[in-house]
Amino acid sequence: MTETLTMRRPDDWHLHLRDGAMLAGVLPETARHFARAIIMPNLVPPVVTGGDARAYRDRILAALPDGMAFEPLMTLYLTETTEPADMAAAHAEGLVTAVKLYPAGATTNSASGVRDLSRVMPVLEKMAEIGLPLCIHGEVTTPEVDIFDREKVFLDTVLDPLRRSLPELKVTLEHITTSDGISYVSNAPGDIAGTITTHHLMINRNHMLVGGIRPHYYCLPVAKRSTHQIALRKAATSGNPRFFLGTDSAPHTDETKESACGCAGVFSATNTLSCLAHVFEEEGALDKLEGFASLHGPARYRRPPNDDRITLAKRAAPTDYPAKIDTGAGPVTLFDPGHPLYWHVIA
Ligand code: DOR
Ligand code: ZN
Repeated sequence: MTETLTMRRPDDWHLHLRDGAMLAGVLPETARHFARAIIMPNLVPPVVTGGDARAYRDRILAALPDGMAFEPLMTLYLTETTEPADMAAAHAEGLVTAVKLYPAGATTNSASGVRDLSRVMPVLEKMAEIGLPLCIHGEVTTPEVDIFDREKVFLDTVLDPLRRSLPELKVTLEHITTSDGISYVSNAPGDIAGTITTHHLMINRNHMLVGGIRPHYYCLPVAKRSTHQIALRKAATSGNPRFFLGTDSAPHTDETKESACGCAGVFSATNTLSCLAHVFEEEGALDKLEGFASLHGPARYRRPPNDDRITLAKRAAPTDYPAKIDTGAGPVTLFDPGHPLYWHVIA
C-alpha cells in the first residue's frame, strides 16, 4: 500500500525569485506547491522603498502563469538611508511583511547593506513600535573572522547586544546553520524565531568538499560540520514552533555557479517537499512536517495557515527530478541531495 501524507499547504519564509527571465523561470517551481513566500529584496538595485516593493510585487504577479495562485510577501532591504516613515507606510498598507538586514558584504548583492547598526536604530525602533519583523542574515563580515565562525560571532557580538538594547523587536534569524544559532533561538527570551533551509538539513561541509569541490552546494551561510547539521535536523523535527521552513532557494545560472569564483546559492524550490519528507521520515518525525512547513511560519507572522491541503505519496521507485531547469536566463541546477527521493507531491 502506498504511504501518503496530507497536510496544509506550506509556505516558504525565505525565497529568492530574482527578476526578468529568471523570475519567470523559477516562480512556477515554488507556486506549484507553496501558497505564499517571503520574497528576498536583494535585487540589483535592491528593493529599498515601498514603491520598489510594490513594483516588484506587481512584476512577480505578472510573471505568475495563468491558473496558478501565489501570494508574494514582500520585504524591504534595510539600508543606512532607509526612511522610517516610508517603511511604516508600506507596512500600514499591507505591502511589506518584514524588513531584511544584510550586513554589508555578507552575501550576494549585499553591498548596500548595513555597515554600522547604530545608523539604522531609528528604523529598528520604529519597527519594534509597529510590530514589523526584522529578518536577519546572521553573519559578521569582519575579514579576520573565519567563514565557518561568522554565524556564531554574529550571535555574540551583534544579535544578542541588539536584542538586549531593543527587546521589543521581532527577529527572525534566517537560514540557521549552527548548533549555536539553534540554541540561541531556542533559549533567548522575547520575540525570536528562526528559519532552516532544506539543503542545510541534508548536507554538511563534507558533501561540498570531500572528493572534489561541488559548487552547487556552495551557499551562504556556508554548510558547517555534521554536528551542526544534526542540531538543525533535531530542531526542525522537534515541533518547536520557533523553527520553520525558509528554503533560501536561490537560483544562479550554471555559468555563474560553475566558475573560478562561483556564486553562493542553492536552488531547491522544485524538490524541496520531497527532500523534507525524506528528512522528517529519517528522523521518525513525519508528523512534525506540517508544523515546520505549514503552521509555525503563519503563526509567527500572525496569519492564518492555508486552508487547502497537499498530499505527498511515498513510491517504491525514486522520483525523477530534472537535473536542471531551463530558464530564459540560462540553465539552473536543481539541488541534488545525493540519494534517491521517494516522497513526491501528488495533489
Ligand atoms: O547562498 C545564498 N544565496 N545566501 C544568501 O544569503 C543569498 C543568496 C542569493 O541571493 O544568491
Ligand atoms: Zn537568502
